[in-house]
Amino acid sequence: MIERTLILEGTGRSLRLGAGETLLDGLERNGYRMRRSCRNGVCEICQITLLEGEVVQRYPAATLQGPTADVLACTATALSDLRVEIEGLRMPGVLAVKKLTCDISAIEKLNHDVYRVRLHLPATGSLATEFYAGQYLDIVLPDGKQASFSIGSAPEMGRELELHIRHIPDSAMSTAIVEHLLNQPSVQIELPKGDCYLKATEVAADTRLILAAASTGFAQVKSIVEHLLANQHSNPIHIYWAVRSADDFYLDKLPEQWAREHTHVMMHHVVSEPDGSPDWAGRTGLITEAILEDFSDFDDVEVIASGSPGMVYALLDALEAKGLKQEQMKSDVFAYAPRPK
Ligand code: FES
Repeated sequence: MIERTLILEGTGRSLRLGAGETLLDGLERNGYRMRRSCRNGVCEICQITLLEGEVVQRYPAATLQGPTADVLACTATALSDLRVEIEGLRMPGVLAVKKLTCDISAIEKLNHDVYRVRLHLPATGSLATEFYAGQYLDIVLPDGKQASFSIGSAPEMGRELELHIRHIPDSAMSTAIVEHLLNQPSVQIELPKGDCYLKATEVAADTRLILAAASTGFAQVKSIVEHLLANQHSNPIHIYWAVRSADDFYLDKLPEQWAREHTHVMMHHVVSEPDGSPDWAGRTGLITEAILEDFSDFDDVEVIASGSPGMVYALLDALEAKGLKQEQMKSDVFAYAPRPK
């Protein structure tokens, strides 16, 4: 047996199958995911369509040829280069979105309007790789209404998730979510969502990270920082956290601890409306101004921005004027709010 090429119909992609390697093993070795269970030709869940080429199937024993043969990927090996169609094939790195019912293990108030909610994933959602740091989930209420929240804990926490939920009394949806979380033992969620995330293994050694968050956007930052620290990451991490009034900050001790224990983590609190915070002695103004004060160039910088469309696009405009390219910035905003003209 020799190496063969496997062309994946409809994806524009192909991969090399090792000599004697089953189609399923070759796909999984290359990071693809598809339905499979028994891995020995019995359950038939891994059936795919062979469009071109020839395979030998170990069980049930058969030699099969395209263009429309049904083949079990777990027991078939290639006798020629192949072209196949696989329903539900997941590309490498893309995680499956799951709907899960989680226990609400704790809910506590962190300041005057933000709650920390701790969720315990059921065993089916127990894999640490179920989401990437920076992704979000949707809470789905019993009436079907749903709202999105950044996951505020790192994937390394396994089945324990944390959310930071701000209660907006004027919003019926916000009130319904908080009341559900305060009064029910469990909640339905959909995760993971969002393409604004960071993987420690993919950050270049000379990259300086700027994590800019407004209000509870800090949850996304927290997930990313805890993921980086869990992976002994040593790139400079500059965190900018902006709120209107000083009493909007929460979890005060955590960023202090990061900065104390990790010299490469720099924390900046910024209050945008200091008139309402007479005791605030820290930085004031807009988050954009604070970043521009601290950075003279944006070479080798990657920015993750977590806030409203107005805040994110104002930051992008300001940093682009200083040489940053849009591809150096990530934000969930880019997926749902067009850039203002
Ligand atoms: S995984 Fe069960 S037949 Fe292939």
